Amino acid sequence: MNRQPKVVVENLPEDATLFVANLLKSIVCESVSRRGHCHAALSGGTTPHALYQLLAGGALSGEVPWDKVDVFFSDERDVPHDDIHSNFGMVQRTLLDYLPVNPGNVHPMAADAEDIHAAADQYERTIRRVAPAAPGGIPQLDVILLGMGGDGHTASLFPCTPEALAEGGKLVVAHFVPALGRSRMTLTLPLINAARNVVMLVTGADKADAVAAVLGGSEEARKDIPAARVDPTDGVLFLVLDAAAAKGAGLRPGA
Ligand code: 6PG
Repeated sequence: MNRQPKVVVENLPEDATLFVANLLKSIVCESVSRRGHCHAALSGGTTPHALYQLLAGGALSGEVPWDKVDVFFSDERDVPHDDIHSNFGMVQRTLLDYLPVNPGNVHPMAADAEDIHAAADQYERTIRRVAPAAPGGIPQLDVILLGMGGDGHTASLFPCTPEALAEGGKLVVAHFVPALGRSRMTLTLPLINAARNVVMLVTGADKADAVAAVLGGSEEARKDIPAARVDPTDGVLFLVLDAAAAKGAGLRPGA
């Protein structure tokens, strides 16, 4: 492990969500003040709904230079963007429709493309065009927001998808996920682990076992848990939990 994650345990899910909202706000403001811009990748699923609604509300968004943010996505389902299951569609409805983000700076994944692999390659080219590369040649996003599934998946990197997990060159891949019976497009570990900040928001008792395995499992066991492979090379990993998700790891609020 490059460095220990910053683990934050809040009592309630709404407290964890508020912590992440303020953290994202400070990351965006710092990125813009230091570098004039912020490159962010947002996650899908249900956990971030409340986060996006909070960010879209007046309290936080008013002080954030959203017009200087490029919005990418951590992963996408193989559905059209107007499908109820689309991550982009969810982020558009709960967040982007309420922020002064430049529409040209929003980069949805075309995971419903006829050739999803070509679309993944095109998404990588977009990331490389928009986000500056770090010395190692990999674009260093300022923040990547991730969730965690009960099986330890993150973005659309799932257990038993060894090819996507082992991908060491591509920054974006599309792959068939046996557990879902569907294809997904996802950022890969090289891009995720090149980020300045990775923020994992994980709430609910159904995630407790996965969190315990990520934080306490053996090195051998952790190799097969995608969320445990998130280990930024130079950046910081924030693992923000509520008490229910932290319980399996023996962590309590205020940890
Ligand atoms: C997705 C997400 C996925 C999500 C986890 C947790 O497309 O579903 O990108 O990685 O973060 O599955 O999902 P919940 O927040 O719904 O528990």
